[in-house]
Formats: sequence, C-alpha cells, structure tokens
Amino acid sequence: MKQFRRIGVLSSGGDAPGMNAAIRAITRTALDHGVEVMGIIGGYSGLIKENIVPLDSRAVSNIITKGGTALYSDRCVEFKTEEGMQKAIATCKKYNIDAIVAIGGDGTFRGATDLTLRGVPAIGVTGTIDNDITATDYTVGFDTAMNSVIEVVDRLRDTCESHARCNVVEVMGRDCGEIALKTAIACGAMAVAIPEVPFDEAAAIAAIKEAKESGKRGMIVIVSEGVFADGPDGKKIPYGEVLVKKIEAETGIESKFCRPAHMVRGGSPTLRDRLTASRMGVKAVELLLEGKSNLVVIEENGEITSMDILFALTTDRMYKNKLKEGDLDKFNEEQIAQMKAICEKRTRDIAEQYAIVNAINM
Ligand code: F6P
Repeated sequence: MKQFRRIGVLSSGGDAPGMNAAIRAITRTALDHGVEVMGIIGGYSGLIKENIVPLDSRAVSNIITKGGTALYSDRCVEFKTEEGMQKAIATCKKYNIDAIVAIGGDGTFRGATDLTLRGVPAIGVTGTIDNDITATDYTVGFDTAMNSVIEVVDRLRDTCESHARCNVVEVMGRDCGEIALKTAIACGAMAVAIPEVPFDEAAAIAAIKEAKESGKRGMIVIVSEGVFADGPDGKKIPYGEVLVKKIEAETGIESKFCRPAHMVRGGSPTLRDRLTASRMGVKAVELLLEGKSNLVVIEENGEITSMDILFALTTDRMYKNKLKEGDLDKFNEEQIAQMKAICEKRTRDIAEQYAIVNAINM
C-alpha cells in the first residue's frame, strides 16, 4: 500500500448533484486510512490560486443531501496552459498534497492526466449530469437531473392536457442525447430529437396530427440542446425553438416552448446519485492507496471499477467521431477492439431506447 500523508479533492466543470456525496466519501475514506485531506476550492483554479482548506470528518457532515458542490466549481482556462499547470503543481508541493482526486467530466479528467504526468498522481471520479462519457455506463448527477426533468415535464403535461396544447421541452446534455432520450420514454413524449439519431421531423408531425385526430389533447416533445437547425444567416438555432413553430403551423395545435436549462442541474441528489458517488469516492481513494493513478472511476454493468484516462477519453472521441490522427497509435489491437465494443454497445442502447419512444409513445 502506498503511503500518502495528504491528498487533495476538487470538483471541476459543470456541477452535478451527488458531487457532495463523492467529496464526503473521498474525505472520510482517506481519513480512515490516516491520510489528511485538503479541499481545493473552485476546481483547478483553486490549485492555481492556493484556495485550499483542510477537511476533517465534520467538515463534510450533512453535505450528502445537498445539490451543487461544497467545494465549488470552475471551468479553468488558465489550467490548460503549461504555466497554469506548473502553478498548480507548485501549490501541491507547497501544501504537501501528494495526490488529487478530481470530480467532473472529460475536461476534469484531462486535468487529472496533466497533474499525473507532472508528478502529482491523480484519479478522476465521473460527475456530470450529461452521462456523456462513453467509457462509463453512468456519471454522477444523471439520475437527479433526469428526475428533475420529468418533474417539470409532468407539470407541463397537466397544463397541456387542460388546454389541448403541445409543449416542446429542450433539455441539457451538451452533445449527448441521453437525458432527452430516457426522459422522453419516462414522460411519454410523442417524439424526441437527439444528436445521435437523425430526426424524422415529418413523421413526428404526422404522428402528432394523427394523435390529435384520435382524441389526444396534451402532447410533449423533448429535444436535446445538442440538436440545431440552420438559421437564415448561417448561424445555428436551437432546434426546439424551430420545431415548436413548425408543429403549431402544421398541426394547428397551440404549441409552447420550455427550456428548464440549469434548473435540472440543482437539487438534492437521488438515492442513485448518492450511492454511486459514495461508491466511486471510496474506490478513488482505494486506487490511490494501491499506488494507482491516471485512472477514472467508472461504472460497468453495475460494478464500480476504473479505466485508464487516456483510454476513456480516446473511446469517447471514437464514439463521437472526433478521433484525431495518431490518437489510436498508443493502443494495441485488442484495446482498439475493446473501444469499438464500448462504442457499439452505447450505439445499440440508444437505438433500442429510441425505438421504444416511437413504439409506445403515441
Ligand atoms: O455539462 C453539464 C452542462 O449542464 C451541460 O448539459 C450544458 O450544456 C452545460 O453544462 C452548461 O454549461 P454552463 O453551466 O457553463 O452554462
């Protein structure tokens, strides 16, 4: 077992419900092994600006129930520069921080790799509402965000039903349609538009017309924020804003647009997020104590395990068709086959769920 005197914990990127449960688990697991914990305030910028506080067991009491992140968060541009990274490393040395656990999404994991390569071992824990990290089945915050979406949509449905209206709801997820897709199934949305699957607009509008004719009053359509339409001046327009007008024009159904946006990023985490964050937090510290680093803690078929960060980020680029020349050079055939299998599984899962929306939501 590796001897650490002190580790640091930070959260970075968009906050996600459950990050606090991870901070609590990381802190208490480390303390239990006789390792001191420093909380880094405001993500990687806290490392650069030396915004650091010691965490004892009581400092993380009662945060498990709270949304947001008690350590605050940031998307730190300075940390992407060599100078910024060197400042962060100098802070770790100054405060005797031997290792870092970083909670966040892909940008956060790149930061963890940067630290590891410069001599401070780091481990990532997935925390983002988007569930957009291909290599893990689950990211902390996803379940709470989806539950918040369905609460909003259920309310919209009540009023749509009363007034015989359609509501188009745009949900977060960046370029990942997972929140939109799963909530569309759960809310009985008539149609869902996500970046991963071409949207058949004519079929969706025809289905809405047909439903109206068969007596349906309230209609819900969910659109992921990652879907855009071409605007007149060549600019991209959020597709939901365009679709709502088309539905009204072509079906004669009064149609409203709703963008809950950041509202679904807050709120008390669900059991799923508290539990997964706690399991991942414990795992992150155990990995460090085993002398491992440059890993991201993931969930795979219900098991909390870990994966090399570069492998995870490359798999993600493969899935999103964003591979750059040379990206695969560092991997052998077996690893590349493994990446392809992960991507194919996600593609299959999405296709299967997309088909469900069309099959049973009418
Ligand atoms: O990554 C989480 C997320 O909420 C995305 O769903 C969304 O696109 C983005 O962050 C919004 O970022 P910001 O909080 O910086 O506006």
